[in-house]
Amino acid sequence: MTVETAVYVNECGLPLNAIEWLETHHRSKAPEREQMIRDLDLKKGSFVVDAGCGPGLWTPLLAWAIGPRGRILGVDIATEALITAQQRNENKRYRRQVQYKLAPLEQLPIQHEKADVIFSANVSQYLPDPAATFAAMAPYLKFGGRLVIKDIDFGTMRFSNIDPGLQTRVFQARERWERERTSRGYAFEDSWVGSKLAGYLRAAGYEDVQEKRYCIVRSYQLPDDYRLYLQGIADWFVCEDAPYLSGKDVTDWLQCFHDEHHNVLDQKTFLSEETEFVVSGVWNASASS
Ligand SMILES: C[S@@+](CC[C@H](N)C(=O)[O-])C[C@H]1O[C@@H](n2cnc3c(N)ncnc32)[C@H](O)[C@@H]1O
Repeated sequence: MTVETAVYVNECGLPLNAIEWLETHHRSKAPEREQMIRDLDLKKGSFVVDAGCGPGLWTPLLAWAIGPRGRILGVDIATEALITAQQRNENKRYRRQVQYKLAPLEQLPIQHEKADVIFSANVSQYLPDPAATFAAMAPYLKFGGRLVIKDIDFGTMRFSNIDPGLQTRVFQARERWERERTSRGYAFEDSWVGSKLAGYLRAAGYEDVQEKRYCIVRSYQLPDDYRLYLQGIADWFVCEDAPYLSGKDVTDWLQCFHDEHHNVLDQKTFLSEETEFVVSGVWNASASS
């Protein structure tokens, strides 16, 4: 099996960012993602910027939360994702409340002090200096506005029926590779970012920083989307030649998720666990101060 072909890369060269993959990921965690947005308790009529919106998968959830008088601006650096977002939402009842624009997180295409909330999901893992980016986004928030960052942390991932030693070696090898991959010409990634987010928001000057953890547990029998999600993640852990893992570990690991006869995903003892982080902070400074 060629691992490289199984890892989904978008037009900006970011792994696990291809549209189809993001859709699978979104569907597979739909109940938790709905809960995350409910827990934000967004005010009706809010103006929300979805920073790094990708194919617009969070738009329906955000639109529901802010009601018919609210507005959403989705921003991303990937044109293909923005076109998909536009198409996905063009026939929806909230279509006139939503716009999508091409821009980086640090230079949002709005005036300062306009956004009630800046929401950003699964993007901070690609930021080489998250605190600097969060600080650069702050002037776009109204006084008292909120930055909400949601992301993964693969330090929290566990499988009940995979040899614990193999899991540790795979996770440690990937974490080490992520610390070094930029020096080999790959884009920055930190898939262990979730538990660091609160510190980054505080370092960027946000106040009243709050962290919420969502433990995502799935067991036998897995829904198709979650199965695909886990197979994609398993491939991704050992992509780019997995320089810090032995060939045997790579083979054993892939076999766990792809073997026709002894697949861990098909065993009654299967259980997976992963915690995602939603961290918010309030901006209490004026852009001009
Ligand atoms: C993993 S996807 C997440 C998409 C969407 N937020 C979701 O959760 O489904 C990350 C997205 O962030 C975008 N992105 C990465 N770095 C960015 C930056 N500096 N400015 C704007 N968008 C960025 C990518 O193009 C991609 O669409």
